[in-house]
Amino acid sequence: MTFKLPGVCLITGAASGIGRGAAITLAQEGCSRLFLVDIDLEGLQESKNQLQHVSSTARVEVLKVDIASESSVKRMIDECVSKFGRLDYALNIAGVVPQRTPIADVKIETYDKVIAINQYGTWLCHQAEIKQMMKQEPLEGYGDTRGSIVTVSSLSGINASSGMSTYCASKHSIVGFAKTDAQDYGPHGIRVNVICPGMIDTDLFRATSPPDAPAALAAITPVRRLGKPSDVAWLAAFLCSAESSFIHGAVIPCDGGLSLRRGVI
Ligand SMILES: NC(=O)c1ccc[n+]([C@@H]2O[C@H](COP(=O)([O-])OP(=O)(O)OC[C@H]3O[C@@H](n4cnc5c(N)ncnc54)[C@H](O)[C@@H]3O)[C@@H](O)[C@H]2O)c1
Repeated sequence: MTFKLPGVCLITGAASGIGRGAAITLAQEGCSRLFLVDIDLEGLQESKNQLQHVSSTARVEVLKVDIASESSVKRMIDECVSKFGRLDYALNIAGVVPQRTPIADVKIETYDKVIAINQYGTWLCHQAEIKQMMKQEPLEGYGDTRGSIVTVSSLSGINASSGMSTYCASKHSIVGFAKTDAQDYGPHGIRVNVICPGMIDTDLFRATSPPDAPAALAAITPVRRLGKPSDVAWLAAFLCSAESSFIHGAVIPCDGGLSLRRGVI
């Protein structure tokens, strides 16, 4: 399947895992202008290399960005517009996951870091992306849409997640402001949707899970497997595309049915 993706795509967290998968999938689906950002420049270069293997003609620019810094996020948008002239699809994927710790034992520094990146950083990205999209006219062939924002929360953004109070606080917040932005900016032609991944088999997932967790979680997932970055990437590509023009303000699990088991992750 090929979606219609004629515009410019910005992806945060593109140096690894789901963000890298999204960059490769968007390119495979015909997006030919990609702006990849992350705090990890080396990882970004590797993502760019892998992407150019599947699409040698795509134009790919990378930039080191800390989404928790207002000036860095401003530079991200300025550079994207200076290099590509506009911003059509913004995939907000950058984030951190702390080790599972019950709230009584959480260090305040850990809380501050998770909130600074996942909540404040993602909020800063939304604000900067919307400001840019409001300045531009819809792309030809892209209906009335000035831009599409797809933001990654988590099942921990809609359900309880044991020992993940801090992470849940940050990811629930994303759902709240994304829905509000969808309500405020839908009339202006900016679509906003949220993806809530379940257990996606990335380095981050392995690093923050006990050794027996992947097999145990696959066993309680209705489709009996963990997710792959490409599972989330396909949904993100669809939500960017003109084909999803009536999907707006949605909060969509991508989890093999794991969220059917409320409260157990
Ligand atoms: N893997 C899962 O099971 C899972 C499940 C639900 C939600 N998520 C969410 O998906 C997103 C991606 O997770 P992943 O598993 O691919 O992890 P990952 O660690 O592979 O990717 C996260 C990326 O974000 C980048 N990043 C971290 N802090 C940053 C900052 N301040 N500025 C810019 N970039 C920064 C990292 O360098 C990394 O490349 C995260 O938001 C995570 O919370 C993951």
